[in-house]
Amino acid sequence: MRTHYCAEINEELIGQEVVVAGWVASRRDHGGVIFIDMRDNDEVVQLVCDPADSKEAHKVADEVRDQYVVIAKGVVRARGEGLENPKLKTGKVEIVVKELKIENKSLPMPFDLGDEKVNEEIRLKYRYLDLRTPKMHNIFKLRSKAAIGARNSLSKQGFLEVETPVLTKSTPEGARDYLVPSRVFPGEFYALPQSPQLFKQLLMVSGFDRYFQIAKCFRDEDLRADRQPEFTQIDVEMSFCTQDDVIAVAEQLIKDIFNEVGLGDKVPKKFERITYDEAMEKYGSDKPDLRFDLAMVDVIDIFERSSNEIFSEIAKDRKKNRIKALKVPNGDNIFSKRQMKGFEDYVRKFGAKGLGYFQVKEEGLKGPLTKFFSQEDLDEIIKRCDLKVGDVVFFGAGEKKLVLDYMGRFRLYLAELMNLINEDEYRFVWVVDFPMFEIEDGKVKALHHPFTMPKLNEDGKLEYSDIEEIKSIAYDIVLNGVELGGGSIRIHKEEIQEEIFKILGIDKEEAQEKFGFLLDALKYGAPPHGGFAIGFDRLIMLLAKTNSIRDVIAFPKTQKAQCLLTQAPSPVDLEQLKELGLRIRKNITKEG
Ligand code: AMO
Repeated sequence: MRTHYCAEINEELIGQEVVVAGWVASRRDHGGVIFIDMRDNDEVVQLVCDPADSKEAHKVADEVRDQYVVIAKGVVRARGEGLENPKLKTGKVEIVVKELKIENKSLPMPFDLGDEKVNEEIRLKYRYLDLRTPKMHNIFKLRSKAAIGARNSLSKQGFLEVETPVLTKSTPEGARDYLVPSRVFPGEFYALPQSPQLFKQLLMVSGFDRYFQIAKCFRDEDLRADRQPEFTQIDVEMSFCTQDDVIAVAEQLIKDIFNEVGLGDKVPKKFERITYDEAMEKYGSDKPDLRFDLAMVDVIDIFERSSNEIFSEIAKDRKKNRIKALKVPNGDNIFSKRQMKGFEDYVRKFGAKGLGYFQVKEEGLKGPLTKFFSQEDLDEIIKRCDLKVGDVVFFGAGEKKLVLDYMGRFRLYLAELMNLINEDEYRFVWVVDFPMFEIEDGKVKALHHPFTMPKLNEDGKLEYSDIEEIKSIAYDIVLNGVELGGGSIRIHKEEIQEEIFKILGIDKEEAQEKFGFLLDALKYGAPPHGGFAIGFDRLIMLLAKTNSIRDVIAFPKTQKAQCLLTQAPSPVDLEQLKELGLRIRKNITKEG
């Protein structure tokens, strides 16, 4: 229907007749002459409807309203001197309209398109209008480019794209499953995959040396700004590989995607690596944001010598507890008394009993805690934390997990407050050597998943005195403090798998019932294998520099996992339920 897209209308076409089509972005009546800004897929062009050029076109222009769909035929001309608009690609020219057709009318917009302050609920209800803005178009162009970049990169690296089922059996990624009832087998259910984990391992047993898939995953978990119930992974698995081989593939993939979207110069030549333990001890997080410094320093030995019994008592158990110092350069000069008090309130929200601090003055350390320390120990704190006059140093003391958590959060809070984050930087770090297990409420759980290879001794055996000390060959890639992706080398031998199940308290029967098909497959010549998955939506969120994963998903769900556009989830006909052998209990509540 058109001869050109708006973006193609430029000085080279002056004098030429063109046909353009799109939506009315705005309309201005300048006493007789009507100007229409018309937008198509990606650009705006100015239409001039002057009765002197065409009475009919001017008449139609008079009826046009915002967001009407129009098709205009006219001649391109240069804009008058001083009337150029440098903000537009087409800003040097305009189209003198000879024929204007209203292809479709539009109701008035339910909200101001592109207004950042509009309530998200209304944006999601009318998502098709929300998506009509240039900002959203740019995000989805970026997303499409990144997906193409990923496919090309992996294909170039020898990976084969294979699809895996969406109606399947539960996968153990740690979240709740979305279930789909079976009509043919009443009372039985499919689960939507939390990831293609088990299938990609099966493909390795099938001898597909290198697999990838841009896969939809489904997890019924508490939603946050970077979590959606259905999301997309770039999922990868390969055979006969070491951790370094897998990491090299992931780094190449990331470089190629960044290149494809024009950010190639933002990817480092060499990615950093840090162990899980170091990340936790220094940054209080397994996804540390390294765009700023503020690392924690261990001072538990110094506090053990203090005359304050609370500290010396905590310091006695160095396995269970931590005492950490966090230096804020120049903090003493920056923070007011009220702010310092506010910091304590902040960490208390995360379970801290208090927040000690020293100010660094010309004459030495100052603060309510100094009286508990000898001069040598105060000097030792200055040395170990590398303190300068004007700095302030905060202390967190207590149970390890708690202290690392609230000090880690406090670190991020300070960085935001003090504007320490360079928003233009992309800072990658691999976190490696994750613990194999974590103990939650007395129950042993796999930190990644139960198929992750533990670190074995030289004889290929699992050797340990304390299960919490067993490390796994698992790694996460972290970008600017966001867990972008993760993976592991998998167990390919039955004996080790059985040992891990035993530690997890999964007996043979349960293992067989849950993942028998994988365990069986491992008996038929499974090669050593490993892989990773990158959260594609999170990657796009970081590339597009938005704060919410919802901005980069065309039709996202709310925090309550609802789709405000389609009203899903919604009740279904009794007939449908009957067919599935299901009955909804009356007065059902969340608690059942
Ligand atoms: P994992 O569970 O770590 O690993 O997931 C990989 C990446 O997927 C992204 N992600 C999410 N993104 C949006 N919303 C969610 N609810 C969500 N959950 C996870 C994250 C995460 O790093 N099968 C393994 C991978 C492997 O071992 O190969 C897996 O799924 O960016």
